[in-house]
Amino acid sequence: MLLILKPDKEQLGHEAARIVAHAVRRNPSLRLGLATGSTTLTLYKELVRMHRDEALDFSGLVTFNLDEYLGLPANHSESFHYFMHEHLFRHVNVKPENIHIPDGTITGNYDTYCCSYEQAIRDAGGIDLQILGIGRNGHIGFNEPTSSLGSRTRLKVLTKETIDDNRKSFAPGEKVPECAITMGIGTILEAKRVLLLASGSSKATSIAQAIEGPVTASVTASALQHHPDVTFIVDQQAGAQLRHHDYYARVLRLTAELTPDRL
Ligand code: GLP
Repeated sequence: MLLILKPDKEQLGHEAARIVAHAVRRNPSLRLGLATGSTTLTLYKELVRMHRDEALDFSGLVTFNLDEYLGLPANHSESFHYFMHEHLFRHVNVKPENIHIPDGTITGNYDTYCCSYEQAIRDAGGIDLQILGIGRNGHIGFNEPTSSLGSRTRLKVLTKETIDDNRKSFAPGEKVPECAITMGIGTILEAKRVLLLASGSSKATSIAQAIEGPVTASVTASALQHHPDVTFIVDQQAGAQLRHHDYYARVLRLTAELTPDRL
């Protein structure tokens, strides 16, 4: 586990973009797992800038998004389809046929659909680098507390807390989705490398629990403690409840010195 502490959301996004761009340059056919949420915005903005100013090439990339609301049309402004196209895909040269986002408009045969999403990931050769955000309740993707730590892509009922958090982005009075399709914890743990981004004081408790607490289905991000190559990039506020700052800083310094490729 590596922890990179940044002063603010802007610099957090830039650091994440540096890592993603390095991975893309090393492997132009990278299979990249993507997340949505406000925390990822500075990452995508910086990747778009790198594509424009530094010719960062997305043409060989294969992408898999983590999750999608159930019941929203793809062109709804709160759908994750819309988010990804608006903030990344339409600005870079990723091939449309290489983009995979769970289909939130399906109305039945959920298990069959979710198995086919898993199969598409396997057919592509697995995910090389998975980007994650984290929910206030410690969820990754939409793997709410009590999700099985071995879970695969599936239909998931959202908690009231998550629905209330999401409500802020919807129009007043508009129905907020109660369900989503999400990669499972087991799916996420199979990615070769994981990069989790967290910003703001509302994430401080879940970050401390995920990194320093016990591995528990009550905080599904804590399952990442079982992952062999996970990097957390957090800003000061999200890292405020961590206890071992000095140790993380030394790990980072010596990793940069001894195995710079890991960064
Ligand atoms: C939703 C997504 C998560 C994401 C989280 C954080 O719950 N399903 O994948 O990590 O939002 O969003 P934000 O960055 O806006 O706090």
